[in-house]
Amino acid sequence: MIYFDEQKQVFHLQGNRFSYQMKIVDGVLMHMYWGSRLPSCDGDCLFTLAGEAASFDLPFNRRPREVPTQEKGYFGRRALDIVNSQGDDVLSLRYESHIIFSGKKALAGLPSSYTETEEEAQTLEITLADTFLNIQVVLSYTVFRDLDVLARSMRVINNGPDAVTLKDLQTAVCLPYDQYEAIHLKGGWAKERQAMRTPLPMGHFTIQSRRGASGHENNPFLALVKPETTEFSGEVYAMTHVYSGSFSASADVGMDLAPTMMMGFCPDVFSWQLNPGETFQGPEALLMYTKDGLNGLSALSHPFIRRHICRGYWRDRPRPVLINNWEATYFDFNAEKLYNIAKKGAEIGCELFVIDDGWFGKRNTDNCSLGDWVVNENKVEGGLKKLAERIESLGMMCGLWFEPEMVSPDSDLYRAHPDWCLHVPGRERTQARQQLILDLSRKEVQDYIIESVSAVLRSAPISYVKWDMNRNMTEGFSCVLPPRQKMETQHRYMLGLYRVLGEITARFPRVLFESCSGGGGRFDCGILCFMPQTWTSDDTDAAERVKIQYGTSLLYPCSSMGAHVSAVPNHQTGRSTPFLTRCHVAMGGNFGFELDLNKLSDEDLQCAKEAVAMVKELRGTMQQGTYARLSNPMTNGGSAAWQFTDQERIIVCIYHHQAAANQPPQSIRLTGLEEDAVYHDEAHNLTCSGAALMGMGLPLPYMRGDFKTLLYCFRKIS
Ligand code: DGJ
Repeated sequence: MIYFDEQKQVFHLQGNRFSYQMKIVDGVLMHMYWGSRLPSCDGDCLFTLAGEAASFDLPFNRRPREVPTQEKGYFGRRALDIVNSQGDDVLSLRYESHIIFSGKKALAGLPSSYTETEEEAQTLEITLADTFLNIQVVLSYTVFRDLDVLARSMRVINNGPDAVTLKDLQTAVCLPYDQYEAIHLKGGWAKERQAMRTPLPMGHFTIQSRRGASGHENNPFLALVKPETTEFSGEVYAMTHVYSGSFSASADVGMDLAPTMMMGFCPDVFSWQLNPGETFQGPEALLMYTKDGLNGLSALSHPFIRRHICRGYWRDRPRPVLINNWEATYFDFNAEKLYNIAKKGAEIGCELFVIDDGWFGKRNTDNCSLGDWVVNENKVEGGLKKLAERIESLGMMCGLWFEPEMVSPDSDLYRAHPDWCLHVPGRERTQARQQLILDLSRKEVQDYIIESVSAVLRSAPISYVKWDMNRNMTEGFSCVLPPRQKMETQHRYMLGLYRVLGEITARFPRVLFESCSGGGGRFDCGILCFMPQTWTSDDTDAAERVKIQYGTSLLYPCSSMGAHVSAVPNHQTGRSTPFLTRCHVAMGGNFGFELDLNKLSDEDLQCAKEAVAMVKELRGTMQQGTYARLSNPMTNGGSAAWQFTDQERIIVCIYHHQAAANQPPQSIRLTGLEEDAVYHDEAHNLTCSGAALMGMGLPLPYMRGDFKTLLYCFRKIS
């Protein structure tokens, strides 16, 4: 998988269908190639270095270095920006050594992709050094045997006598000169990850978060595609970050019109003092290349995230059908009310009841008690243990909501430790949702969270945790850091959060953790390393969810997306959609309910029961199968179609946004079937070949009324 051609001085990282090559030229590590698989390093003879011909510009400004730094007239964005004790930022990195080994190492303090056995991957570590400063940079590249994803990271070692300041750290890769379009996931609260596609401008294109979380507004995902790339074909170069904090994803089109793509810290809110003898580990970036369009990208990223990012007991297990009380009751509940919702859930086959916000302290609205993780026995009469046991006696698991990273000013915790929140002494502490953020860079704060959450989880049979985080950083600074290191707070917070999550998930390995951040405000591969699913959005309107889940699915697998059926009129949009439509759309993720089933009509309750039975029958395919988008709601008037495929069946869901009179006949073409195989859908009594389903497509019946769905389930019969 990884080769070094001594004579040509070329590194060849060879996947099943991609190659990535670098070449040492005069001690400088050059990027040579990333694209479809090459048989060997013979492309070396085609590699030319710009700037060899006479030019006004300096050669380093035009040469594709693997780690572009400020050196010899380089004017593009740097992958590594270090200010040394002399106050300058020149950094001359030259090849020193390399090693190739089986498997993959974990990154110190940070989540990263992993393998279960050494045979699954090979890793190359290249050490570069600036001998003037005595700084080493170790670049790590892992090639996985089963899936064409390249994991990269960088660590910086200060062997010099003086402290230096890291100002920026990016994983950079040069793409071939060509025309590109950028695809990214734009959004906001309740409208997360709307897939956007825009021609790549001839300059800098950046999406970023400096919120202290990956955020609702942008997601750490960037794809550069050719203008002709579709869901089904065409080249895609994509990157994502195994990190949950602020980030920057960019494409810098240089003077030779070849973009350098980068993923890393957001330099506005990052700085790190690296003392003599210390090592700084940068976050991992995942690089994916395919010629098979956007569905080809998802066919790489989905199984990779399921197998090499998500981990633990729940990784491959069918995810339980849940019912959550949030939109059913908000804060207005007591133990009996919760039990009655759970009971109805059990009657229709739900497997998990989740007690959402409001069970602790004196919390009856969102203005108090975060930090006081002690059950409120006035609401949960008899305590948590009793309620959880009653729920278990219904044959269900019991789950619980926490927001451990936060503190309410009106809380015993805040009264005891007013300096435990992020703040700037002397300035107003900006409240959002009437809460402040705990300073997770501090060990005593981390320990408090670990112990207080653990105590609750030990006190009652809790099998699931919804880990929420409902605001972003404003005066996001630790009061215990010296002035010169204040800008380290955000990254130190993330390291603290990862320690807390690592400790708690290790203590409770059988608990299913679902992350949440005001919906999907922290949906990234970093958090998925600890919690295999994320609440996708607070917007539970089926019509809106189609777009949110469409965008999310570009990178993230359906088994990582929480998707619930809620009441109508919908609480976020006021729209009413048919019950069956809400069920079908929620089947595009980890299915659940977020309403009071006791308030449903008999007809809707029956529909809910049938949907649960269907999810249980089909979830193997929906959670582990290959997912393909057949039609894009962003360009198709809100209508969409998607397909799940595994050895056993093909499930197709068609969502029709708005009815119109006198429509021409339409059809949806399936993908990835065997041309000569014959497929049968019992419910619609359809039997035809894979070739016909892919060539002619499923004819769409005329649909009266808005927001209608159709679900097909084909089995291969010969
Ligand atoms: C935001 C989450 O996204 C909701 O699902 C709910 O848990 C609330 N927080 C509770 O405060």
